[in-house]
Amino acid sequence: MARGLLSWASLRKICGSHYYIQARLPCVRVKYLFFSWLAVFVGSWVIYVQYSTHTELCRAHDCKKIICDKYKKGIIDGSACGSLCDKGTLYFGKCLSNKPNNQVYRGMWDESQVILKCRLEEPFHFDLDSNMEPRKEMVLFDKPTKGTSMEEFREMVYSLLKAKLGDQTNLQKLLKLVVTVADGNKDGHVSLAEAKSTWALLQLNEFLITVILQDKEHTPKLLGFCGDLYVTEKVHYSYLYGLTIPWVLEFFIPSGLRRSMDQWFTPSWPRKAKISIGLLEFVEDVFHGTFGNFLMCDVSANNIGYNVKHDLKMIDMRKVVPEVSFKQLIGGRHCETDVDCVYGTDCRTTCHQSKKQCSTELDQPNLTKVCTLLKDYLLNGAPPDVREELEKQLYSCIALRGVAGQMEMEHSLILNNLKTLLWKKISHTKDS
Ligand SMILES: Nc1ncnc2c1ncn2[C@@H]1O[C@H](COP(=O)(O)OP(=O)(O)O)[C@@H](O)[C@H]1O
Ligand SMILES: [Mg+2]
Repeated sequence: MARGLLSWASLRKICGSHYYIQARLPCVRVKYLFFSWLAVFVGSWVIYVQYSTHTELCRAHDCKKIICDKYKKGIIDGSACGSLCDKGTLYFGKCLSNKPNNQVYRGMWDESQVILKCRLEEPFHFDLDSNMEPRKEMVLFDKPTKGTSMEEFREMVYSLLKAKLGDQTNLQKLLKLVVTVADGNKDGHVSLAEAKSTWALLQLNEFLITVILQDKEHTPKLLGFCGDLYVTEKVHYSYLYGLTIPWVLEFFIPSGLRRSMDQWFTPSWPRKAKISIGLLEFVEDVFHGTFGNFLMCDVSANNIGYNVKHDLKMIDMRKVVPEVSFKQLIGGRHCETDVDCVYGTDCRTTCHQSKKQCSTELDQPNLTKVCTLLKDYLLNGAPPDVREELEKQLYSCIALRGVAGQMEMEHSLILNNLKTLLWKKISHTKDS
């Protein structure tokens, strides 16, 4: 009896109308049907969106096909070609891409875990003509042309480096380095196919900076290449802090809570200090280093990782750009407001209102951006005896401004003081 009353009451509530009893049951059924249909519709839409994003972001098969076809035709060559296309000892694993034209995969090469990066131009369009290949096919690997001598190739590379890095004394040294890398099979000379791969790779910012910093500790090692696909060492932890949460959940978490949640998932303080020293050393490596000055135009925790020993490794250096290239790029840009004068996420200059052109003077040096990123990371859980001094130094670092030439001294001073303070605190612990 009670059950009968209950269901009766709920039916009344659901339908919320004053129709006759006979009319109520179909009404519930219609609502039930409507909600099931809605659930199926929304569910399929989510699956469709996920699937179509996945098919655009993860096209390992296309990457391999394009590269290996070219390799088999003898157009390109490189140290990874044999393993990828002949022996099958280098293969693609989990897809990590966030952008369709920058395909990133975890992979295995013999027994080691590696990262494979491959460029695809336009997202694949479902074209009726199945013979149509991605645009990349047509534009790449056309230089150097057949008959180019080694001397001419050197000149080509030299001019490219000069255009990207500016006229400086160390270019010959860098040219030598590039030529050594280009000789994939280490037979002492660069074949036309190797030269074509190298030329395509040199157009990529991240490849160039990886070669430039290959002896430094904080960049993943370059392990090999084939065409414009390149393989690097895999970094153990690919984020400075935080958890990766599925985007559906991400949507429901307020940003304030998300920020504090991120700070919960960090290593112990001495380890954080060691990672931070690594980041400061990277800033030193790129600030007026051997081959010029580089700007870090996307300083975010997602682009920074560390290995099991808590040595910092930069994982995404596509927005680490030579200052000369940056100035060429932004200098002539038309603008209405300062918002138009941003490169990457955080290389900003101001908009010249009279000329309607972006200026070339950056508002913040790399170090300032790094200190902003490290502030919460380092102050959270800092030992009481260093906290105050650390806070003081971090704030003076964040306040650092000024024209490049004038602030160089102050820059080095702040950087050294911070490194020393952290180092002193952890040098006696086992984590150092
Ligand atoms: N060397 C690496 N070691 C470990 N993970 C990496 C490495 N390079 C990239 N990843 C992972 O792949 C993701 C995408 O790579 P990334 O170079 O940042 O390209 P994008 O900015 O286009 O997403 C990164 O967020 C990171 O999780
Ligand atoms: Mg990235």
